[in-house]
Amino acid sequence: MIIAVDGPAASGKGTIAKALAAHYGLPHLDTGLLYRAVGIAVLRGGGDPSDEGEAFHACAFDEALLTDPGLKSEAAGRAASIVSAHPSVRAALLERQRDFAHQKGGAVLDGRDIGTVIAPEAQAKLFVTASPEVRARRRFEELERMGLAVTYDHVLGDIRARDERDSGRGIAPLRQADDALLLDTSTLDVAAAVATAIGLVEQRRKG
Ligand code: C5P
Repeated sequence: MIIAVDGPAASGKGTIAKALAAHYGLPHLDTGLLYRAVGIAVLRGGGDPSDEGEAFHACAFDEALLTDPGLKSEAAGRAASIVSAHPSVRAALLERQRDFAHQKGGAVLDGRDIGTVIAPEAQAKLFVTASPEVRARRRFEELERMGLAVTYDHVLGDIRARDERDSGRGIAPLRQADDALLLDTSTLDVAAAVATAIGLVEQRRKG
C-alpha cells in the first residue's frame, strides 16, 4: 500500500507519516529532506537558491547530507522552499521518490506533491493541515527547545511566506489532491492526530 501524506510546514504531517509507517510496517520517506539537502548544498557552496542552474547542480548532493543536523534549520527550510520551485530540481528528484513509493510492499511518503504528482495512484492520501498560528506556535516551541533565539512573530512570518511560495508556484504547488482526506490537526494532540490518521487510512483500505 502506498500512503501519501501532504501538507504545509509544521502541520504534523511528518509525525503522522512516521507513525503510519510504524503502524503498517512500511518504509517512510520524508521528501522535504531531499529539497532541504539541495538548499543546504547551494548555501554551503556560497550559491543562491534562486539561481536554477546552481540549484540543479546541487541535486547531485552527497548522500551523507541527508543525515546532517543542519537540514532541520529554518535557513534550510527557506532555501528548500526556493529551490523546490525550479522545474529542473523537481525533475531531478522525481525518479528517486517514485522508486521509493513503488518498492515492493509499498511505502509512506510525506511532502507537498505526493498525492498529486509523485504517487497519484496512492491507495490512501491524507492532506494534513492546521492554522498558520498553531503551526507557528509548534515550530516556535520546537526551535526554543533546540536553544535557538527566535520570536513567535518571526516564525509566523516565515510560515506564511513558505505557504505562499509553496502554494503559489507554477509547478507541483501545494494543494489537496481531489481524492485526499483532510486532517486538520489544529486542536489535536499527537496521539489524537495519529489515531485519526489511522482511522482515515483504514477507511480507504476498506472502501
Ligand atoms: O516538509 P519540509 O518543511 O521539510 O519541506 C521543505 C520545503 O521543501 C517545503 O517548504 C517545500 O517548498 C519543499 N518541498 C516540496 N515538495 C515536497 C517536499 C518538500 O516542494 N514533496
